[in-house]
Amino acid sequence: MLSCSVVLVEIHFHLCLWYVADTHRYAISPDLVGFVCVTSALETDADLQYLVTGGKLTKVKSNSWKKKRFFQLQDDGETIWHESQKALKRNNTFSINDVESVRRGRQSEVLQKFTDSSMEDLCFSIIFKGKRNTLDLVASSPEDAKHWVTGLEKLIASMQNLNTQQKSEHWIISRMRRADKNRDNVMTLKEVKHFLHDINIEVNDMYAAKLFEACDISKSGALEGEEIKHFYELLTAREEIEVIYGKYALTAGQMSASNLLDFLQKEQREAVSLDYALMLIEKYEPDSAAKQKKQMSRDGFLRYLTSAEGTVFNPAHKEVYQDMRQPLNNYFISSSHNTYLMEDQLKGPSSTEAYIRALTKGCRCVELDCWDGPNGEPLIYHGHTLTSKVLFKDVIKAIRDYAFRVSPSEVIHVHSSCLHQTSEYPVILSLENHCSVEQQKVMAKHMTSILGTALLTRPLGKKMPTTFPGPEELKGRILVKGKRLNKLDVVFEDNSSVDVDSVSEEDESAEAKEGEQKAKAKKSKIKLAKELSDLVVYCKSVHFNSFEHSKEKQAFYEMASFKESKAKQLAEHSAEFVHHNIDKLSRIYPAGSRTDSSNYNPVQMWNSGCQIVALNFQTPCKQMDLNQGRFLPNGKCGYILKPHFMRIPDFNFDACNLTSGRWLRKKNLHIMVISAQQLPKLNKDKVSSIVDPFVRVEIHGVTADKSSAQTAHINNNGFNPMWNKTFVFAINVPELAIVRFVVEDYDPASANDFIGQYTLPFTSIQNGYRHIPLLTKCGNVIPSAGLFVHIMALDD
Ligand SMILES: *[C@@H]1O[C@H](CO)[C@@H](O)[C@H](O)[C@H]1NC(C)=O
Ligand SMILES: *[C@@H]1O[C@H](CO)[C@@H](O)[C@H](O)[C@H]1NC(C)=O
Ligand SMILES: *[C@@H]1O[C@H](CO)[C@@H](O)[C@H](O)[C@H]1NC(C)=O
Ligand SMILES: *[C@@H]1O[C@H](CO)[C@@H](O)[C@H](O)[C@H]1NC(C)=O
Repeated sequence: MLSCSVVLVEIHFHLCLWYVADTHRYAISPDLVGFVCVTSALETDADLQYLVTGGKLTKVKSNSWKKKRFFQLQDDGETIWHESQKALKRNNTFSINDVESVRRGRQSEVLQKFTDSSMEDLCFSIIFKGKRNTLDLVASSPEDAKHWVTGLEKLIASMQNLNTQQKSEHWIISRMRRADKNRDNVMTLKEVKHFLHDINIEVNDMYAAKLFEACDISKSGALEGEEIKHFYELLTAREEIEVIYGKYALTAGQMSASNLLDFLQKEQREAVSLDYALMLIEKYEPDSAAKQKKQMSRDGFLRYLTSAEGTVFNPAHKEVYQDMRQPLNNYFISSSHNTYLMEDQLKGPSSTEAYIRALTKGCRCVELDCWDGPNGEPLIYHGHTLTSKVLFKDVIKAIRDYAFRVSPSEVIHVHSSCLHQTSEYPVILSLENHCSVEQQKVMAKHMTSILGTALLTRPLGKKMPTTFPGPEELKGRILVKGKRLNKLDVVFEDNSSVDVDSVSEEDESAEAKEGEQKAKAKKSKIKLAKELSDLVVYCKSVHFNSFEHSKEKQAFYEMASFKESKAKQLAEHSAEFVHHNIDKLSRIYPAGSRTDSSNYNPVQMWNSGCQIVALNFQTPCKQMDLNQGRFLPNGKCGYILKPHFMRIPDFNFDACNLTSGRWLRKKNLHIMVISAQQLPKLNKDKVSSIVDPFVRVEIHGVTADKSSAQTAHINNNGFNPMWNKTFVFAINVPELAIVRFVVEDYDPASANDFIGQYTLPFTSIQNGYRHIPLLTKCGNVIPSAGLFVHIMALDD
């Protein structure tokens, strides 16, 4: 693999851009800090130059709202400026950091509706992270469109390729550039103060003046060149890292390979050899002299600590590492509820975009709420509410396009590892069917013709199976979950002569939802079309009576859906529920009363062995953080193998009443919260917006393991707060434990404000001195911010 390193690149006069090139080595230099650009591999990059020159694009919002606007890449290489007509906001910008992806062609709903199909080559959409609206654009020529899409993709890739350390330096330098208002490469005291405030560090005037004076060696009243470098070094000093480095750098003040090995074995508790230490030096040491001597400098050490090998998440779990050939019901499956909704359930918009977002986040079970629509075309929306509607066939097309990959547009010059990879493992379409027989036939026709061979229409193999196939065997396949008229066995009988259209069936989950919304709704029996029924193979919806009844009557491919309250009640006798799920699938869904699309706690459901624990993916909340953390390992593929004691009938595991058994592997988890770096300001405009941060560590898992503890808050320092606070947690069932780190802004007057969080399974944590990335409410990485901790999990 190429090692990503960064050079500052000159594209044309004044434009500095961070870019990835494997031949260049990156190190902070006075030139760089003084904003003088160095040479580049990209001087002639036509796409980026095109963006820097800028040009007019037509922004499309509706049939009548199509306006030409000027767009241009700013000289920081990360901000796009564009014209706006809004009276107060004459100038608009957005950062490449906020862009999720660029989609070439008429892929968005807006472009599909309001542009002609002949304009395919001219159209593209910019998709933002979080809730910001998609920007739908039309270029004046196909070449123009190609330059924009390619240029933007290169910028996004270069941002993603920066490692944490590089992001952090980039962040500081871009803030310094912003502070240097008159662009004279010199910083006055006023500019320095502005800069400090911008990076969320409160320094009183006297201290700022002192620091300034100390660095202003030339006594010119301004900082330039080396002086800015020195100032930068004072600011970015990491006292706690110095201490660790000092303890192990025992070879004339440097860390030799064997010193590093000592550190890796004693502190990081990694069973590695000298070769591994040498590899880390080769990979992360920026100083060529040190590298030649096979030594690691302070800078190299910090780069290692912020690298993939150095962070808290076990890098071996970044890829699919679990056995993927076990029956489908042996896995937890990342699942979404009311997938079509972008916001709440009463009046929010429905959109195919919501499916794309869920699928690209690794979700492997999506829900389709289907109703009769005009012109014989079934629709998807939330019944009996004002949510907007989308065509069933458009949703199926979006699922076809996004279930197994991210973007159909070819990606240029980019490492595959830097791209967000969707899972290859099967996707389940959970149908909530309110349609007439006529439109059910249309649904079946659309699924068959649009999904083609990806759609599973009969069991794998030549004989009636007795258990589920595994995710591996079902790679790239789409499964339908819904009602079925008959037993699956008829597929293997020659004389299948089932009466068509005439069987009444109730759709249970549909009924449950309506029941909640319309008080005592009458049992709505709906007729089922054979064409639709035949598409249901491994996930036939049935009613749940009792565990005894299921044991006797329920075939493996028959599955029940449970409302959260029912599931909670059953989870109190978790041993029985765990047993039920050893050979069957269960789906849990949020109560209909959650009209704000809030979520229930999924952990209790996983503890009972439930596989499809459907959450409102569109709602940022702690429960979604837990879901994101649960499905972080195993390549984010959306499938996590259940612990062995939940897959084998011999065990009697009960998450609420722990008896002794193979699940008990008691650990003491020691966590020292050491420091945080560059926490974002919550309110960028207010002067008094410097944060007072504190850190909370939460343990989620079986009842006995639930716990949380927090540090004290530190006044007015979001830049480099330090706590050195140790907590010890007793963990009984490590295989079900999930650890969540949360950083909040202390507020004595009202509720504390969320700053960032990171959640991961206990079993994916690395011991030792580790950096932890921080994610926003919506689950996106906050560039440059982080936590630094020391972790030690010891057998009890
Ligand atoms: C908007 O920004 C551009 C470029 O930064 C500048 O030339 C122009 O004067 C600005 N217009 C307004 C109305 O602020
Ligand atoms: C935290 O520990 C580090 C390393 O021992 C030490 O350098 C630092 O002064 C301590 N900071 C606080 C606030 O206790
Ligand atoms: C269909 O075939 C099965 C055996 O393959 C037989 O038991 C059953 O009676 C047949 N049904 C009809 C309707 O012919
Ligand atoms: C917990 O499990 C034990 C052993 O199976 C049983 O004797 C006990 O009654 C259970 N306790 C509760 C509260 O269910």
